[in-house]
Amino acid sequence: MSELLQIGSPNERPRPPRPDELKLRFSEKAVRELDALKTHYPEIKACVLPGLWIAQREYGGYLNGEAIAEVAHRLGRSYAEVEGVATFYSMYNTAHAVGRHMIEVCTCLTCQVCGAYPIAEYLKKKLGIGFGETTADGVFTLHEVECLNACDRAPLLQIGDQYHGPVDEAYVDRLLQELRTRTDSTVVGLADAIVQVHLQATEKA
Ligand code: FES
Repeated sequence: MSELLQIGSPNERPRPPRPDELKLRFSEKAVRELDALKTHYPEIKACVLPGLWIAQREYGGYLNGEAIAEVAHRLGRSYAEVEGVATFYSMYNTAHAVGRHMIEVCTCLTCQVCGAYPIAEYLKKKLGIGFGETTADGVFTLHEVECLNACDRAPLLQIGDQYHGPVDEAYVDRLLQELRTRTDSTVVGLADAIVQVHLQATEKA
C-alpha cells in the first residue's frame, strides 16, 4: 500500500499526490476508452463517472488517492471535484482496499424479512470478518447494502455483476467454494462491465 494512504486515521481521506508524485497507471486500452468517452459527452466533467469506473478496474477494485488523482489529471479536473464524486457514490470503493470478491448483502426490508441477517451472520462466521472487512488472504470483502431492486429474490446477495437469491446456508457454502477457486476478480469484472456499458451507450447516442 502507498505511504500516502497510511497517513492519518482510517477516517481521514489520504492527501492527494503532488504533481511530481503522480504515477500514471492507466493501460493503453484504458486511455483509448477514456478518449472515446470524452468525445461523446458535451462536457468533459460528464466523463468523471465513467473515468472512475475505468480507474476502479485499472487499480484493482480500489480508488486510492493515486487513482483519483489520475482521473483528475486525465480529465483536467481538480482532485477535490473528482474525490467528491467518488466518495458520494457507494459503488466506488474509496474507503479501503477490497478483496477479489466483494459479497454485498442486502439487508433492506424485504431481504430482512426473508432472513438477510441470519445469512449475514452465517457469512461473517464462515469468513471470520464483519461488514466492511476483508479476509486476511485478500479473497473476500463483506459489505451491507441497501435494496438492490430485486426484492422478489430475497434474501439477495450481489457479487460482481451477478445477483444471487434467494440464498440459504447451503447456497452460501457452494458460492464461497466456487469463488475461492476463481483467479479473476469479480470486483474488477464489475468495473469493466460498467465501462463497456458506458462505451456502448455513447456509441449508440
Ligand atoms: S430489499 Fe433486498 S433487494 Fe430489495
